[in-house]
Amino acid sequence: MHLAVFLLASVLSAATFALDNGVMRTPPMGWLAWERFRCDIDCKNDPKNCIRQNLFIDMADRLSEDGWRELGYVYVNIDDCWSSMERDENGRLQADPKRFPGGIPKLSRYLHDRGLKLGIYGDMGTHTCGGYPGTTLDKIEIDAQTFADWEVDMFKFDGCYSNATEQAKGYPLMSKALNATGRPIGYSCSWPAYQGGLPPKVNYTQLGEICNLWRNYGDIQDSWDSVLNILEWFFENQDVLIPAAGPGRWNDPDMLVIGDFGLSKDQSRSQMALWAIMAAPLFMSNDLRTISSEARSILQNKMVISINQDPMGIQGRRLVKEKSNIEVFWRPLSSDASALVFFSRRTDMPYRYQTSLSKLNYTTGSYKIYDVFTDKTMILKDSTNFVVSVNPTGVVMWYVSAPSKLNRRQFYRGGNVQDSVYTGDENANPRVFL
Ligand code: GLA
Repeated sequence: MHLAVFLLASVLSAATFALDNGVMRTPPMGWLAWERFRCDIDCKNDPKNCIRQNLFIDMADRLSEDGWRELGYVYVNIDDCWSSMERDENGRLQADPKRFPGGIPKLSRYLHDRGLKLGIYGDMGTHTCGGYPGTTLDKIEIDAQTFADWEVDMFKFDGCYSNATEQAKGYPLMSKALNATGRPIGYSCSWPAYQGGLPPKVNYTQLGEICNLWRNYGDIQDSWDSVLNILEWFFENQDVLIPAAGPGRWNDPDMLVIGDFGLSKDQSRSQMALWAIMAAPLFMSNDLRTISSEARSILQNKMVISINQDPMGIQGRRLVKEKSNIEVFWRPLSSDASALVFFSRRTDMPYRYQTSLSKLNYTTGSYKIYDVFTDKTMILKDSTNFVVSVNPTGVVMWYVSAPSKLNRRQFYRGGNVQDSVYTGDENANPRVFL
């Protein structure tokens, strides 16, 4: 195709197939209050944890001082229970004056001064899920304008206390209203979650046109059961969900609960790895003031983040579901690379899973493998049988670079043959890469 025609075609298709606000070309990353801090408004007895200005300022300080921002964690998102029970005399939403003495504009200025972004929450109905004032159809324009005036960067639109007909009007209307403000505001729609997440009730083509991300399914809780339940739903329905995702439009399996109370180290790695495979938004809901170094290193793993943030934005899939309760996931990445995750649902002991890249649909060639959580590398031929040892409820995650023709000379070092090809020897420790 002639370049100009190609460019025109790409511009047109971007305009047709994605919300045209230019934001969130890769999955958004940051922090979101809900799962960890809920609707705690008891600032008298629980000043450190209640939903108020200070909580968001504390998290902003941590994001900007503890290395998070540089890795891409830039959103600080207020969820439910931030507003006053009454609108102001002009019918505008207002923050609870006691808990947000500077109002939302003060918070957004504080964040912007630190290179961070602010997200806020509302509900397409009479009330929010927590019982605060909602945004009924007649209030959509005024609320969109209010958020733009406050210099908000993301808006999560929940769906409690509204019916399917109202939602079918309200979600597209809010998209238009946000666009009309002229401020690029990432738009998160809970609409599909209220409609069972699947066609024919949910139209993913339309969602991609009006929203940047959407909650497809129920709320995450601080438990491994909850993570498993979400994973099961997303991968059972992967054929519907994968085509819906792409730059500027993402399926949202809900927050990361890594760093809270419910997940072990292996389970935390599993959540991180599989959210990266899914090209999911990475919104942590934890206490960054007290997070353990173990949880932090999982959340700050540069390789997993770069897999999650791959610019092609193709959502990955489950390739294999073994009777042994081992599953293999795969995501294509730019530069002909890919990511693999070996996941164990077992609860007995580390499982030695044997396979080969050709069994996982890789084509002929040799591949450089980078183990994301151990930093070990190795070269694997497509035909080589290898063994990975996967911990109970844990993962092994690999970044697999583009295939190349194996050139043995490249492994000569100092006159010695350094054959890095893993032999597949059953007795060798598969986690010790040569
Ligand atoms: C719903 C949403 C949650 C959270 C709460 C707030 O349950 O799905 O993510 O926003 O409402 O009340």
